[in-house]
Amino acid sequence: MSGTTTPPPRPRRFAALHGRIERRALVFVLAIFGVSAVGGLVEIAPLFALENTVERVSGVRPYTPLELAGRDVYVREGCYTCHSQQIRPFRDEVERYGAYSLAAESVYDHPFQWGSKRTGPDLARVGGRYSDAWHVQHLQAPRSVVPSSIMPAYAFLSDAPLAPERVGRHLVANRRVGVPYSEEMVREAAADMRAQADPDADPSGLQARYPGAQQRNFDGRPGLTEMDALVAYLQVLGTMAEFDWRRPDPAMLR
Ligand code: HEC
Repeated sequence: MSGTTTPPPRPRRFAALHGRIERRALVFVLAIFGVSAVGGLVEIAPLFALENTVERVSGVRPYTPLELAGRDVYVREGCYTCHSQQIRPFRDEVERYGAYSLAAESVYDHPFQWGSKRTGPDLARVGGRYSDAWHVQHLQAPRSVVPSSIMPAYAFLSDAPLAPERVGRHLVANRRVGVPYSEEMVREAAADMRAQADPDADPSGLQARYPGAQQRNFDGRPGLTEMDALVAYLQVLGTMAEFDWRRPDPAMLR
């Protein structure tokens, strides 16, 4: 009993190694990078080997040239700053907006419009919920149909002409990021755009290329405008996937 204190325990080998790495900033940073790279590879690499990470749903097709132009107006005008297009699998959302969104439904959206900002309602399944005339009136003067609305007016879209000649290049740009537009679709893009907004045009070509495309004068006025395109786009939202979302599967509400 000479009063000496016990010596500190000798560090084990791993702790010594850790101590050495921790004291060298660069080595430590490289080690962190190495460990997270391995973690990332383990998570990401298998996805490339899978044939398909998004389950296909029948009925989902690329947008027609007119719908694609309408989608462009939607993005340009920043509709996504107030509207999401993603119904979450929660009972309150499904009861209000319809069946929850499937990944396959936005497979041709570049960029996707999911979002979490909802100043206005979700629009993922707004297609078919209102008439074309309602949409035109609402976009021209929102408070004339919904008195308490704070949505801005987009009346100028009715006077903004569309340029069908340029839409083919838009299809090509989408093809580069994976949308399967064929050569024929690109070649016929301008004609398809005109035909979709013209109830008197021959529907056969448009229907063969884009099965189920709705064909009518969307803004109810002569001439092809951005209003036609935007309404055509709104009316197709959430209507492509083939299941009856108006009568949701009870399993979805559980
Ligand atoms: C400043 C926010 C804001 C912006 C920007 C905005 N909206 Fe809205 N939107 C609203 C609000 C709030 C409502 C709910 C009241 C109403 O129906 O007007 C609404 C409602 C709607 C509805 C009816 C939805 C339903 O289920 O009843 C549609 C369709 C719509 N907006 C489309 C658009 C489009 C298309 C654009 C872009 C051109 C746009 N909105 C831009 C706020 C906005």
